[in-house]
Amino acid sequence: MKRRGFIKLCSTAAVTAALSPSMLGTALAAEPVLYKRAKLMDRAGKPIKASQLAVGEEYVFHYPYNSTPVLLLRLDKPANGGVGRDGGLVAFCAVCTHQMQYPRKGDANLFNYYHTEKSSAAERSGVIVCCAHNSVFDPAQGAKVLGGQATHPLTAIALEYDAATDEVYAVGTRGQEIYEDFFKAYKQVLNEDYGRGQYKTLVEGQAPVSLLKEFVSMQVRC
Ligand code: FES
Repeated sequence: MKRRGFIKLCSTAAVTAALSPSMLGTALAAEPVLYKRAKLMDRAGKPIKASQLAVGEEYVFHYPYNSTPVLLLRLDKPANGGVGRDGGLVAFCAVCTHQMQYPRKGDANLFNYYHTEKSSAAERSGVIVCCAHNSVFDPAQGAKVLGGQATHPLTAIALEYDAATDEVYAVGTRGQEIYEDFFKAYKQVLNEDYGRGQYKTLVEGQAPVSLLKEFVSMQVRC
């Protein structure tokens, strides 16, 4: 485990030695890279309670940088790397590993989760689909690629769960990061959205969580 400060990871996925065969080939197989710890907060500024997140809803927050979006999902079943009382809480970098489509505030969004709704591109539900070129990822299996143009799983966000308080922290990443490529590709847009040179600010302390459907202007589904 690469350490950027002492931290105790409560996620089952945090223990490399406990990796199951099904994790291999996913972001969960990699050792976590630890960033600054950030507690997930609701829009009222109160800590998110994991058990109060809606199953199947799409949430977004930014981590480990203030400009890098994360898709937060509470699945209806335990997931590899999942945390929370039911083991279904997972988070992945919401930048597609194909050509870096991502949800931008106030913009149309092609990168979505299909809970009970069937994606026509994937011909199934329970998947994350990037409609730019129909890449399909399985959030219950470390966002491994199920189809489309992407060849790499989404970067997983390492979550720490406090069972006593039901609160959740983002603490790092797991798997191949594409942040530097993302910054290079979207430098002009990120400067416009976050202020010149501010888009590489590391998130620390708190990470506000929004509903994805309220963060973007519209969700384009496929
Ligand atoms: S950018 Fe996501 S599938 Fe191409």
